Amino acid sequence: MSERTYRIALIPGDGVGKEVVPAARQVLEALPLAFDFTPLDAGWEVFERTGTALPQRTASVIRSCDGAIFGATQSPSQKVEGYASPILALRKQLDLYANLRPVVSMPVPGSRPGIDMLIVRENTECLYVKQERLEDNGDTAVAQRVITRRASERIARKAFAMARARKRDWEIGRLGDWRLANESPISNLPISQSHNRTPLVTVVHKANVLSLTDGLFREACLAVAQEFPDVQVEEQIVDSMIYRMIREPERYDVIVAPNLYGDILSDAAAALVGGLGLAPSANASDNFTLVEPVHGSAPDIAGKGLANPCAAILAAAQLLEALGESEAAQRIQRAVYHTLAGGIWSADLGGTAGTEAMATAIIGRLRD
Ligand code: NAI
Ligand code: MG
Repeated sequence: MSERTYRIALIPGDGVGKEVVPAARQVLEALPLAFDFTPLDAGWEVFERTGTALPQRTASVIRSCDGAIFGATQSPSQKVEGYASPILALRKQLDLYANLRPVVSMPVPGSRPGIDMLIVRENTECLYVKQERLEDNGDTAVAQRVITRRASERIARKAFAMARARKRDWEIGRLGDWRLANESPISNLPISQSHNRTPLVTVVHKANVLSLTDGLFREACLAVAQEFPDVQVEEQIVDSMIYRMIREPERYDVIVAPNLYGDILSDAAAALVGGLGLAPSANASDNFTLVEPVHGSAPDIAGKGLANPCAAILAAAQLLEALGESEAAQRIQRAVYHTLAGGIWSADLGGTAGTEAMATAIIGRLRD
């Protein structure tokens, strides 16, 4: 493990973000690595206090850090003058074009066995360019959807490269045995079998209806596939993709999708492996990574110490992986896996452990 000190921005945000990000910090602090944490503000609360959801200081200081952990922010469903989602702004400002969402079977009730896939979501365009307008005296609302060849090729290259890297990781056993452990009384995970196969990228689109926008995304992905003859490619229309992913999730490896489809697919996929409390994600450019749990601010449970910190803790492991600290990343993944396999579960998983108890148990297993 490295001797250097990593400067990590911590942006807890609102709601359970303020509970799960400190838990992730505690786990990092228990590792034999040096960190310098920089807490930064963003979100609804800071908007109400100061009139801006993403203070200038946050946007500039984050650039001097080696990486960032974001919690969640609360965004109103109606338009509020002056408010813009800080995570969308950060993705844009830092050009975090790839959203990487691993979906792996977990030893908890409700997780299906044999799943190990990675959803690679385009993170900068599609409907998230937020070019909406009202016409016809407010009786017609129009949203513009932007798909470019450049962004589509870039995300496709990322997806194919990740498929290749995952295969290599399995071949050299770098991911260790944490996902294969048969010790779980709940799920025996026959994942290893699925990794003897050729890497597979599934391109998700709706080009049968949106032939220009999704057509361009599809065409760009299939063109990039030519650069990766060792990776198999297939395409699947988004609605049947959701259906098939729920019917036979174990057949998927890497899934690449435009922004909105990727967002929806990944929440659905999280439900297959124990829920949002366990689902991490990384927003990556070619030189910076900001990680976050897939879940939002969970106002229904916020402030009660009940939030499951595993998603944020596994996200911290994704950040370590991006920083080249694979061994430490695997140590965290193993600790989470073994904690869950030991039956220590938060309320969303049917258990009674609170946020702090979960984090303490995970720290206790870091040496496994
Ligand atoms: P949500 O993800 O916050 O919650 C959905 C459900 O999952 C709730 O029942 C919640 O209690 C549960 N849940 C979420 N995280 C959990 C955890 N760590 N442990 C246990 N249970 C957990 O989604 P929702 O309710 O649609 O959105 C709430 C707010 O979050 C909204 O203001 C939304 O805009 C915001 N949001 C922010 C995101 C971000 O900052 N990246 C992402 C998604 C939503
Ligand atoms: Mg989402």
